[in-house]
Amino acid sequence: MKIAVTAASGQLGSAIVKEAKNQLGDRSVVGIARNPEKAAHLGVEIRRGDYNSQEDFQDALKGIEVVLLVSGMDTPDKRIKQHQNVINAAKTAGVRKLVYTSIFGEPGKCTFDAIIKANRNTEMDLIDSGLEWSIGRNGLYLEADLEYLDYYFNDGKITNCAGDGKCAYTSRDELARAYFEMITRDELNGSVFNLVGEALTQQELVDAINLVYGSDLKFESVGVEEYRRDRIAAHGVVFGTIIAGIYEGIRNGAFDVDSDFASVTGRDHISVPEFINWFRLNH
Ligand SMILES: NC(=O)c1ccc[n+]([C@@H]2O[C@H](COP(=O)([O-])OP(=O)(O)OC[C@H]3O[C@@H](n4cnc5c(N)ncnc54)[C@H](OP(=O)(O)O)[C@@H]3O)[C@@H](O)[C@H]2O)c1
Repeated sequence: MKIAVTAASGQLGSAIVKEAKNQLGDRSVVGIARNPEKAAHLGVEIRRGDYNSQEDFQDALKGIEVVLLVSGMDTPDKRIKQHQNVINAAKTAGVRKLVYTSIFGEPGKCTFDAIIKANRNTEMDLIDSGLEWSIGRNGLYLEADLEYLDYYFNDGKITNCAGDGKCAYTSRDELARAYFEMITRDELNGSVFNLVGEALTQQELVDAINLVYGSDLKFESVGVEEYRRDRIAAHGVVFGTIIAGIYEGIRNGAFDVDSDFASVTGRDHISVPEFINWFRLNH
């Protein structure tokens, strides 16, 4: 079986390529990247594929049995079309099955909604495509949050508008493990899985960080509008609204979901303190 992973130059795509290469060998795995030179270090065949070009993917997917589509980074309206390009190319190229990395979250609870809805749109496009399929809904990457730890330690606190809401996090390596199972095990076809660990509040997250680092961080909860203004001032309207929308979603329960990770991988998701400790040792 030859499998292909899109966005192979990215952090999630490359983690999935590495997992698949370890399990199946380098000759069974193809990475697809819009800038192939950025994925050359992965040690598998790399083909060119920009989500904006269905033609690119028709070529890139020749001889591929299963493709894993990593969701794009563009604005929601553009993403839907980009993902359609890959789905349509997969059909034309004779791909049997497509696995899609979607996002978790309940729509209607925050200004992050547009991203969630765009992902649901692609889910429906895939389900209606006639291809065999499997869909993962990724939790938030915890490492993306921990990358700000120096800043938090400097400030003595983590400030956001999540209040007492719970959020289920994951990590790219845990996702790579789950997606490898979804690529290779056809009994997981036709299902949508929440790929997350345990859900926890921001206070519980701060407690876990303090436990691992021996630190004394505090959690400061502020109002949604105050936080949105602050994030827009720091990151501009588009990203500021997305970041504030995520924490607004946590506050409103959009990301407090049950995990399907164990039913996909056969083991529990790494716990939050274990993951923070792994991060501490590796950064
Ligand atoms: N769950 C979360 O917390 C979370 C957080 C952020 C993002 N996400 C989603 O998860 C996805 C993967 O995350 P990541 O950490 O791997 O992000 P990343 O490291 O920034 O990688 C993004 C990848 O998307 C590729 N890409 C962007 N536009 C493309 C296009 N038009 N055609 C082909 N490839 C394109 C990039 O290619 P280049 O290397 O050429 O730029 C890169 O390989 C993101 O794309 C986003 O949808 C999830």
